[in-house]
This record gives sequence, C-alpha cells and structure tokens, in this order.
Amino acid sequence: MKRLAILGAGGHGRVVADAAEASGEWQEIVFFDDAWPQRKASGPWPIVGNLAALLQQCQEFDGVVVGIGANRVRLSNTEALAAAGARLATIIHPRATISRHAGVGAGSVVFAGAVVNIGARIGQACIINTAATVDHDCQVADGVHISPGANLAGGVTVGTCSWIGANAGIRQQISIGAHAVIGVGAVVVSPQPDGITAAGNPAKDLNRTTPTC
Ligand SMILES: CC(C)(COP(=O)(O)OP(=O)(O)OC[C@H]1O[C@@H](n2cnc3c(N)ncnc32)[C@H](O)[C@@H]1OP(=O)(O)O)[C@@H](O)C(=O)NCCC(=O)NCCS
Repeated sequence: MKRLAILGAGGHGRVVADAAEASGEWQEIVFFDDAWPQRKASGPWPIVGNLAALLQQCQEFDGVVVGIGANRVRLSNTEALAAAGARLATIIHPRATISRHAGVGAGSVVFAGAVVNIGARIGQACIINTAATVDHDCQVADGVHISPGANLAGGVTVGTCSWIGANAGIRQQISIGAHAVIGVGAVVVSPQPDGITAAGNPAKDLNRTTPTC
C-alpha cells in the first residue's frame, strides 16, 4: 500500500490530492497543515499533523509533496522535506499529456488537461496547472507556477519561483526572469527581467515593488 503525505490542506492542496487519487498510484492520502489540530479534514482526506510533525515523520511515507500555491513557500518547504529525508512525489493527473522526452522534477504537479511537450524540462516543486501548455524545449526552473490555461510557446525559459498568470501567452524563445509575475491574460512578446510584475497586451511593467509570488 502506497501512502502519500501532502503539506498544505487548502484549495491547491485539495487539487493535488484529487490528481493523486485519480492517478491510482496512492492508496492512502493524508494532509499535514499548520491549521491542525483545529482542522481535522480537508475534503475527503484527513489532516493528521502540522509541518513540524511531517518533518519528523516524512520518511514513513512513500511520497511527500507540498500542496501550497505560494511559490517561495512551496519551494522552501520542499527543500526542507527533502533535507529531512522525504521521498518527493511527482503528481501527474492521468489526463495530463507529458512527452516521453520531457522531464518533470520531483515535488512538481501536473493537472488535468495540461500538456508538456518534447524537450521541455520542468524543475522541482512546480505547478503546471489545469489546461496549461508548456511547449517543446521550454525550460521551467524550480518553484514556478504556470496557471490554468497559460500557454508557453516553444523554447521559453522561466526563472525560479516565477508565476505565469491564468490564460497568459508567452511568445516562443522568450525569457522570463526569476521571481517574476505575469498577469492573467497577458501577452508576452519581449523578454521580462527578474522580479518584474507585467501584464497586458503586449505585457508591460506594472511597476510593482513588492513581488507577489
Ligand atoms: C498582475 C497581478 C499580479 C497584479 O496584481 P496587483 O499588484 O494586486 O495589481 P492591481 O490589481 O492593484 O492592479 C494594478 C493595475 O494593473 C492593472 N492590472 C492588474 N492585472 C492586470 C492584468 N492581468 N492585465 C491588465 N492589467 C492588469 C489594474 O487594472 C490596475 O490598473 P490601474 O492602476 O490603471 O487601475 C494580478 O492582477 C494578476 O493578474 N494575477 C494573476 C492571477 C492568476 O493568474 N491567478 C491564477 C491562480 S491559479
């Protein structure tokens, strides 16, 4: 019997659990969340402890994944759990399409309807959300979130912990820096530097000083 632990019992965590259950790979799924012991369940799955408990118990699970939407938090917790000896799980919904010649890193999740094409590389602790596409030869660094319906054309690179908003489109070969935020529906036709928050068509700097991812 394979047992999966998910850190983070909020909305994103539940979608991770749902995809894991649909994959048929996990017979038992439990959450850990700092809302425990006040909260005891999230949807059909129990919450059995907090982060401190998971760090202690993580080696007892066949797989551990962080189900937290905030990119830096998800990546730092993933790294802490790996350092504590957790076996990081990669969760792929059965209706996601991933090329045999693409790679998805440990602790990443790929949801229903997403496509990852040949030559693409997805780092650790990434989210490739519902119906997002990552086309051929894209390089997606650790901790990135590609939101629902976003499309990365061929050869796009996305830096660590960046967030590509829902339904954004990124032109082929464009580079997005680290800790960048691309707004919902943006059309990105030029390279975007580290830390930028950009949106619109064509995407422009919103001059935000506080990164939101
Ligand atoms: C880009 C984003 C991060 C900016 O958020 P914010 O810093 O809180 O910005 P505000 O809502 O205060 O808006 C600031 C300005 O930018 C504009 N703006 C914000 N997002 C925009 C977008 N996606 N496209 C065009 N303009 C946008 C606003 O209209 C506003 O313009 P104004 O100053 O002329 O009134 C946010 O709007 C966004 O798109 N987030 C992504 C959401 C998403 O994809 N969620 C998926 C979750 S799975």
